[in-house]
Amino acid sequence: MEKRGIVVINFGSQYVQLIARRVREVGVFSEILHWDTPIEEIKKKNPYGIIFSGGPASVYSEGAPLPDRRIYDLGIPILGICYGLQVITHQLGGKVWKAEKQEFGRSTLEVLKEDPLFEGIPKTFDVWMSHADKVVDLPRGFKNLATSENSPYAVIVNDQKKIYGLQFHPEVVHTQYGTKIIENFVKNICKAPQNWKMGDFIEDKIEEIRKVVGRSKVIAALSGGVDSTVASVLVHRAIGDQLRCFFIDHGLLREGEREEVERNLRSLGLPLKVVDAGQIFLERLKGVEDPEEKRRIIGRTFIEVFEREAKNVEGAEFLLQGTLYPDVVESAGIKGSAKIKTHHNVGGLPEKMNLKLLEPFRELFKDEVREIGRILGVPEEILKRHPFPGPGLAVRILGEVNPEDLKLLRKADKIFIEELKKEGLYDKVWQAFAVLLPIRSVGVMGDVRTYGRVIALRAVESVDGMTADWARLPQDFLDKVARRITNEVRGISRVVYDISSKPPSTIEWE
Ligand code: XMP
Repeated sequence: MEKRGIVVINFGSQYVQLIARRVREVGVFSEILHWDTPIEEIKKKNPYGIIFSGGPASVYSEGAPLPDRRIYDLGIPILGICYGLQVITHQLGGKVWKAEKQEFGRSTLEVLKEDPLFEGIPKTFDVWMSHADKVVDLPRGFKNLATSENSPYAVIVNDQKKIYGLQFHPEVVHTQYGTKIIENFVKNICKAPQNWKMGDFIEDKIEEIRKVVGRSKVIAALSGGVDSTVASVLVHRAIGDQLRCFFIDHGLLREGEREEVERNLRSLGLPLKVVDAGQIFLERLKGVEDPEEKRRIIGRTFIEVFEREAKNVEGAEFLLQGTLYPDVVESAGIKGSAKIKTHHNVGGLPEKMNLKLLEPFRELFKDEVREIGRILGVPEEILKRHPFPGPGLAVRILGEVNPEDLKLLRKADKIFIEELKKEGLYDKVWQAFAVLLPIRSVGVMGDVRTYGRVIALRAVESVDGMTADWARLPQDFLDKVARRITNEVRGISRVVYDISSKPPSTIEWE
């Protein structure tokens, strides 16, 4: 049975998933279709409403993506966003022109006429714009509802046909009342019942995974992190032990991490094999100082080890990956073609082993995956885990990685994390860890001069890891952590706190 909801027509917008997400947030199923999807197919979906996304093209340029005109006669409400508004204007007889001034970033919207689209929203509010073209003449039957400084026709409507156009982007967080506008469209204009839940996504996915996988097997490399764990639990629900999970200990994990991850994954009932490969990784890293070279060695070795294990799984046709939507966007080609970032850990493996990718979270955001994890009964301890890089502590030991330095770093890191948890600060920061620097510095302990190593503490606030600010941890707290580290970790004589943001720095030191 087809699900009824809102169809989002994609004209190449980098925000298209965000639009779908906002619709989900207000409790309505949403589905994204490419702009040239045949009209019959759209009709078959019987949507409550249609949203046209933005896009990089100009309506008057050659080859501009334009939908089948019959879409306006289906009697289904339409909301056009940015390029979507220009498409509506252009196809229905209005005029779109290149604006003298481009409008990027924040702008103030002034509502001129009341409308169910603005229910519960003040007369002026901030919106986020990103356009070079604008509407200069309205199509017949349309009226103007709002303006901004550079867009006289910032919100337009044809009351009779229930066709709306917005020059700004309601889906981005910088637009005030953006979600409310989408809710108003979905509820007041489309009259869609708001009864969709994340649980429905899970049920649909389980059914889809069963269909796609059939009787073949799926292999997964687990890290103990949120995405790969929740993805595995979901797939396990769908196909049981046709899923085979591997957790590869590359010898670059934190103190007690292997045991903790193994315990967690087993408690979830996942069919798991833990592979102890620390020795081979450490051998290959001996004497290597260059960070990129370290990454290459780790990546290559990981594939080698995983491939050896995976080969034993007869009938394996799929590789499960916890890819999220931001990963997909980040790695998309310049022209918006969907070149997918293969996971840093297992990149190259699917081609080599002729595996197909299974990526159930491709269209979701991290907090949505956490919600799914919660529904599937994944413990909070896993869901709230800070991100941890695939190459592990190798990127947190500057210079050569050796067993002695790993020991030092593990001890210091453990103290930092332990204290963060004790003080209730762990869940307040996005990521926190210790870094071991390759220098020595003078100290004094009990009347004796020491010449020990330096630990840098890093804690950041972030939303997605793309940008970050250093966390303002309380001074007394930092004092306590520094004291404990210098007292308890022999060989460390100095502790510093990193106060750089990203950009210009990165989160990891490498
Ligand atoms: P940077 O250092 O680039 O890190 O600001 C951003 C976020 O990505 C994590 N990170 C990685 N995660 N594989 C991963 O899975 C990697 O190779 C890797 N390198 C960095 C980093 O911990 C931070 O959360």
